[in-house]
Order: sequence, then C-alpha cells, then structure tokens
Amino acid sequence: MKAVICTKYGPPEVLQIKEVEKPTPKDNEVLIKINATAVTASDIFIRGCQVSIQYWIPMRLMIGLTKPRKPIIGLVLAGEIESAGKDIKRFKPGDQVFGITGFGLGAYTEYKCMQETDSTYGCLELKPTNISYEEATVAAYGGLLAFQYLGKGNIRPGHRVLIYGASGASGTIAVQLARFLGAEVTAVCSTTNLELVKSLGADKVIDYTVEDSLNPGEKFDFILDAVGKNKTSKLKKACKRALVPGGKYVSIDDGALMLDSKRLALIKNLVEAGHIKPVIDTTYPLEQIVEAHRYVGKGHKKGGVAITVCHNCN
Ligand SMILES: NC(=O)c1ccc[n+]([C@@H]2O[C@H](COP(=O)([O-])OP(=O)(O)OC[C@H]3O[C@@H](n4cnc5c(N)ncnc54)[C@H](OP(=O)(O)O)[C@@H]3O)[C@@H](O)[C@H]2O)c1
Repeated sequence: MKAVICTKYGPPEVLQIKEVEKPTPKDNEVLIKINATAVTASDIFIRGCQVSIQYWIPMRLMIGLTKPRKPIIGLVLAGEIESAGKDIKRFKPGDQVFGITGFGLGAYTEYKCMQETDSTYGCLELKPTNISYEEATVAAYGGLLAFQYLGKGNIRPGHRVLIYGASGASGTIAVQLARFLGAEVTAVCSTTNLELVKSLGADKVIDYTVEDSLNPGEKFDFILDAVGKNKTSKLKKACKRALVPGGKYVSIDDGALMLDSKRLALIKNLVEAGHIKPVIDTTYPLEQIVEAHRYVGKGHKKGGVAITVCHNCN
C-alpha cells in the first residue's frame, strides 16, 4: 500500500511516498481502509518539530529524536472498516468511521489498524452519514478541539461568547457549536474570512487586521482562543481584558486533546441534524501531500485541508 513517510524533521519536502506492507489486524483491532485524511496544525507540528529550546529535549524524547518514531505520520482519518478482529464489538466490516489516531499517527496511508476503545492511540466512531469522508476529517479534528475547549465555558442560552480565530478548523466549528448552545456569538477573523464566519452563524464579526480594540463596555461571559498562543494581535490582548466578573478565558493550547469517541458521537449527531457543517478549504490527493503541507504551513487555511486517499469512495 502507498504511505507517506516522514524521513526526518524538516520542511514539507521531508515527506516521501513509499510502498509499505498492508497491516493485519490483531484480535482487538479493526482494519480501516482510509478514504481521506487531513493536514492539520498538529501534522505540521509533528513533521517540523519546531519548538522553543526549553521544550526541545522533552518533545523529541516524546515523539522521536531525529524523526517521528512512527514513520507514517497523519493524525486524522475517515474510511471504512475492511475487517475486524474476533474481539471487536462496536464495529463490523463495511461501517464508515471517522477518528483520530493519536500517538499511533499512521493516517497518511491506505490502511490502518486501530483498537475500538479510546486511548492515547486514538478514538473512532461511526462517521456522520450526510458528509463526505473529507468533511469528516474536519469534523473529527476541529470538532474534538472545539467541543473540548468550548465545553470549559459551560455555555448557556444568552451567554455572550467570543471566539478568537474563528476561521480555522476548530474556530469554524466552535462558532457553530456556540450558536447551537444558544450563545450570542462574536467572532474574530481577518477581512477575507468575515463572510464565511457570518455564514456560520456569528452574530457579530470583528476583523483583527483592522480593529485593535473592542467597543468600550463590550464584555463576554466566555472567550475561546481557537488559534492558539502563537498567533496573536493587539485585538487578542484587548479581548483578554473583556470578561465579565466570573467570566472565563480559555486557550485551545491549554492542555492536551482528549481522544473521546463519545464526543465524536455528539459531533456526528449535530452534523447529521444540520447544526454543524465542516468547512473545507482545499482538498489535495495523497500524491500532493508536500504541496498540502506547504499550504497549511502558511497558517491561513479556512476550516480544514483534506487529503483524498481513495478517489471513488464517497
Ligand atoms: N490542546 C491541544 O491538544 C491541541 C491540539 C491540536 C491543536 N491545538 C492548537 O489548536 C490551534 C488551532 O488549530 P486549528 O487547526 O483550528 O487552526 P488552523 O485551522 O490552523 O487556523 C488557521 C486559521 O487561523 C487564522 N489566524 C492566523 N493568525 C491569526 C491571528 N493572529 N488571529 C486570528 N486568527 C488568525 C487564519 O485566519 P487568517 O488567514 O484570516 O489569518 C486561519 O483561518 C493550533 O494552532 C494549536 O495551537 C491544540
């Protein structure tokens, strides 16, 4: 089978397509035929492993010294169960699934074995029936991030919620989820993404490339920084000061992504009910993985970038 191998940490060109052996599932594993994967912020990080000097050693001890310990990288997948080990209870051959591979990586290829139970090596759930495999990759990654970090806000109808960085994979889903929960949503993005973010249901949009401050007196019950600590602006600093007493500011970088199939099931339900629509910026074929990494590495994608692995599978 075809697989994308990360030969060493570095620029997109370190990724190479090679033939590798198709895996065989153990008794407690399913074999997934991967139809789509994605290029996420996490994939860019794992390929480049660019961290500040203080995290250099711990990070490399964790993911690999000179290259990722798992040569086939890729964190997100959507596909079909091809076969199931004898102990598998939740899935059967033919089921369409979506999920995250966690420390197991290995989604940049045609087949992957995974356990059906959640662990740091992944979580799997039946895919929403009304979206493509490519869209399902955004629902899994952006969805898990948005649900986990928006969940910290205990959002109630009428709460004033600000999503900073509303145009990325997690931001686009966070806006829709906050609206679904009944919040009044203010979304921050750049000029080119204003219309997109409005179309997702934001009540108000603010352009961080134009505005340096919020209106005097504008306050929020909950603020989610959905782009992470590395991306900032004068406006982001002003947002941090705009909480009501008892309000909460959460960064999507506070903690580790929880791999939770129950959360994937909630995402599936909301997608199928039409409350959440994953946003896809661009889709590349697996053969163009280097170009896809170059594009995502620029940091300005809208929603998610998907990779088609099987071309006639939707
Ligand atoms: N806690 C965890 O375990 C965990 C796991 C994975 C990822 N993360 C974090 O989650 C972050 C978000 O990931 P994602 O995939 O949702 O993001 P993403 O899709 O990579 O974000 C891209 C978006 O960010 C916007 N952006 C760039 N600079 C900005 C700025 N200064 N202010 C506001 N928006 C800006 C871009 O819009 P413009 O083009 O308009 O600038 C673009 O639409 C990652 O960067 C990472 O820090 C955390």
